[in-house]
Amino acid sequence: MNRYAIIVGAGKGERMGSDIPKQFLELNGLPVLMHTMRRFHESVSPRLILVLNVHFHDYWEGLCDQYDFRIPHELIKGGVTRFDSVKKGLKAVKGKGVVAVHDAVRPLASHQLIRNCFETARDKGSAVPAVPSRESLRRGSLDRSESVSRDEYFLVQTPQCFDSTLLRRAYRQEFRNEFTDDASVVERSGQPIQLVEGEFNNIKITYPDDFRIAELLLTDKK
Ligand code: C5P
Repeated sequence: MNRYAIIVGAGKGERMGSDIPKQFLELNGLPVLMHTMRRFHESVSPRLILVLNVHFHDYWEGLCDQYDFRIPHELIKGGVTRFDSVKKGLKAVKGKGVVAVHDAVRPLASHQLIRNCFETARDKGSAVPAVPSRESLRRGSLDRSESVSRDEYFLVQTPQCFDSTLLRRAYRQEFRNEFTDDASVVERSGQPIQLVEGEFNNIKITYPDDFRIAELLLTDKK
């Protein structure tokens, strides 16, 4: 099986309140993005395709020199939305195989999770990690809401893995606002989605507090 991983890191990370997007900030001595790429390289060694905003390409290359980061990867220019960025990364996937799409800001996906996603997608066409909600859930607005059964809902993570032909076909669709991840794009193209068990520690670093949690989780693993 040919394996590809598109790491999307072209977002501005505005919710973090820092001039440098969070994927480049240091987490326990190494930029977040390097932790993320290392996880893929050490687990299934895919062809790595890194999608970054063009204004940060030189900056990233400088970081690679500074940290002596030598994991081979292809650097691609990002787009205005995540959907555009994935689409651009997908153009660099030439052959057939399984393609993972992963958020640059999820440095804690375990080797086992990454392997399981690739293997399930090879057998079933897709693999999307998800965890049940630990919180009770309500739908609506602050003023008017109703409780819903949390047993029927999952929180969706990455890496989301797909057969390359299926993913390419899905990304030929026009962009829609509800396309917040790859599963929503693939599903809209008419393909069912196979969920796999995600990990509570596979957090998406979004706010400054997440950074501190990720530091603790990484320290724990050592
Ligand atoms: O914005 P959101 O938190 O959903 O971003 C998820 C991932 O998609 C992040 O890793 C971010 O860098 C990436 N992204 C991207 N191109 C964009 C917007 C987001 O690669 N235009």
